[in-house]
Amino acid sequence: MSEREITTVSQDELERQEVYIEALNRIDGKRKKSCYIETYGCQMNEHDSEKMEAILERLGYVGTETKEDADLILINTCLVRENAELKVYGKVGSLKHLKENNPEIILGICGCMMQQEEVRKVIKEKHSFMDLIFGTHNIHKLPEYIYKHNQQSGMIVDVWEDGGRIVEGVPSKRKFDHKALVNITFGCNNFCTYCIVPYTRGREKSREVEDILEEIRGLISEGCKEITLLGQNVNSYGKTLENRIAFADLLREIDKLPGIERVRFMTSHPKDLSDELISAMAECDSVCEHIHLPFQAGNNRVLKTMNRKYTKEQYLELVDKIKRAIPDIAITTDIIVGFPGETYEEFEDTLDVVRKVGFDAAYTYLYSIREGTPAAEMKDQIPEDEKSRRFKELLDTLNPIGYEKNLKMVGKVESVLVEGTSKNNEEVLSGRTRSGKLINFKGTADLIGSIVDVKIEEARTWTLNGSLAGEA
Ligand code: SAH
Ligand code: SF4
Ligand code: F3S
Repeated sequence: MSEREITTVSQDELERQEVYIEALNRIDGKRKKSCYIETYGCQMNEHDSEKMEAILERLGYVGTETKEDADLILINTCLVRENAELKVYGKVGSLKHLKENNPEIILGICGCMMQQEEVRKVIKEKHSFMDLIFGTHNIHKLPEYIYKHNQQSGMIVDVWEDGGRIVEGVPSKRKFDHKALVNITFGCNNFCTYCIVPYTRGREKSREVEDILEEIRGLISEGCKEITLLGQNVNSYGKTLENRIAFADLLREIDKLPGIERVRFMTSHPKDLSDELISAMAECDSVCEHIHLPFQAGNNRVLKTMNRKYTKEQYLELVDKIKRAIPDIAITTDIIVGFPGETYEEFEDTLDVVRKVGFDAAYTYLYSIREGTPAAEMKDQIPEDEKSRRFKELLDTLNPIGYEKNLKMVGKVESVLVEGTSKNNEEVLSGRTRSGKLINFKGTADLIGSIVDVKIEEARTWTLNGSLAGEA
């Protein structure tokens, strides 16, 4: 599909759904209903679940914490992790008894895994008690699916192949009042050879600048303090727009919005991270001192086979540039261990990058075969026990570095956005520094949602403890 064919479908698609919402509310709008959404995978999926919850709210559903109480259950699936399919089939199987106890319950499954025909086939054949199957491109059609489910028997299956379309105007129910996820691009064009995401999320598409700004203005007016911009590769934002604009300029536009306090973004692909973006990050007050910059592997031959389009040296140089421009920056990453053909010596390059960069945190993955990707066909798959050995070595290298970095923060006063109270102790608040570190400190619940100064007193491997030093 050529770039120009990408259109934004807004009014017509959503107006059609309004008809179903009205019809459903006419039929049983008075009845109180509850929904349970189980979400796997990345923030993209998390945000999709927030959108589905907002749609369901319009149909009279309220969220519940337990499946047993629910009138509707949705499982929003991811396909990246190892054995993801097996786990989800197990999960789906465990819903059967709920259907037997309550034939009225609506059971749906959606998300990245449903974009795969083989997976849909298994659900249709082995778990035919499921009611709804839909994919990543059409969550806004949930009212239509529920309506049709009420009208007809049998499973409703609707999965769009990548339509090259963005559906604007889908509402969203935020998990936290004071922070929000905002999509800026959908899909991915990079085709890293191990990755299934380009097949489940389709081609890269950017939202129009004005649509993004409008959404953020709305969020600020609702009291939102922190915005996280989402895309598989935010650095390539703007390439599919008629009026091309670089991600750095989008950041500058967002930074100009009155009332904007904190901006984050993820994920950054090293191959597209420009000097201009580093300058914009350094200059924009609202942009937080944190970058998530996956390097995946340290060895140049492995990186080439992964189709990552940068070398170890380029990655390290990029990190140096970022650290020079923004000295306090926290750098987090994604790392894959045991890519096909990776020798132990090549893996040592990964450890070398870890030591040289000094990551604040890392998401670590054992390479796992994703059918349909080029790496699945590669010879020399690494035995599981060898992958696990290297994985342990990687964690043993990462963890002390994370702790060291946190230790250096002890004694400093950081501005912290208060997110909530600790699960175990109501008198302990937890929040995040601008660098994204989780910090616990004593305080009262009325501070939730505000930005306060906290003095850091103790470092743990991945978290900090401190005490309130005043309102920021
Ligand atoms: N778009 C983001 C992340 C996409 S998926 C990026 O480019 O960084 C999140 C992470 O899952 C990837 O960064 C990668 O580290 C991991 N991952 C993806 N496919 C994998 C596979 N087949 N095996 C192991 N890890 C994988
Ligand atoms: Fe997957 Fe690579 Fe795209 Fe990230 S950039 S989503 S790892 S293909
Ligand atoms: Fe998983 Fe889909 Fe995200 S496969 S990592 S939920 S884009």
